[in-house]
Amino acid sequence: MRRFDVIGHRGAMGLEPENTLRSFRKALEFGVDGVEFDVQNIHGELLIFHDETLDRTTDGKGSLLDHSVEYLRSLDAGQGEPIPTLAEVVELIGDRAFINIELKGFDTASLVVKLVHLLDKKRFKKEQFIISSYLFSELYLIHELDPEIKIGVIADEHPVIALDFADEVDAYSFHPSYSILDKDLVQDAHDAGMKVYVHTVNDLEKIQQSQAMDVDGVFTDYPDRVIEFLNQSA
Ligand code: G3P
Ligand code: MG
Repeated sequence: MRRFDVIGHRGAMGLEPENTLRSFRKALEFGVDGVEFDVQNIHGELLIFHDETLDRTTDGKGSLLDHSVEYLRSLDAGQGEPIPTLAEVVELIGDRAFINIELKGFDTASLVVKLVHLLDKKRFKKEQFIISSYLFSELYLIHELDPEIKIGVIADEHPVIALDFADEVDAYSFHPSYSILDKDLVQDAHDAGMKVYVHTVNDLEKIQQSQAMDVDGVFTDYPDRVIEFLNQSA
């Protein structure tokens, strides 16, 4: 049977404040295969953050771009946790899991250039990383700048267009939402040499259905549930 990877979505966001070191630590404790998080380029610093505004997940308000990095780092992103930097998360994960960086924020083209430059450094193991996005032009730029970097194409709609694009940029993996998943799509992605990682799968029925459709793994807010299911069905 195909290997089934469990990828912690924003760490273990069903259990801990999303995109914090606490959340990544929890995901690693469960033994995830991969960790997904969102990265933004804010005034030249790579911060782990999903939204473009602070209000939902921190005690701050307004756009991230309206504040200094120092101020942003002083905010409470949940249970007293600060907004982490990419360097902090990469150090925490070490070689315990693969790392899925999702491109987010306002300045995604310069974010791409920074990430490509970073992954070229010797201290990073390029093969440990997947850079994913909904944004075709940014993924195309990665492919142009460094074809060795693993690309993940996220799609919540128009699966045929997204899969065609993924093929064009030699994507490593295709990340459809569960709502557009079907067996033919999985087969087509596999025929094109890509892994299929589905987002975001939290309940038992969807975990079972994903496995039945022969996907390579799932993004989940509850890595504990998926790992327990896999252990029981082994
Ligand atoms: O990569 C899967 C998923 O993280 C994409 O959506 O909004 O959770 O970043 P979002
Ligand atoms: Mg994400």
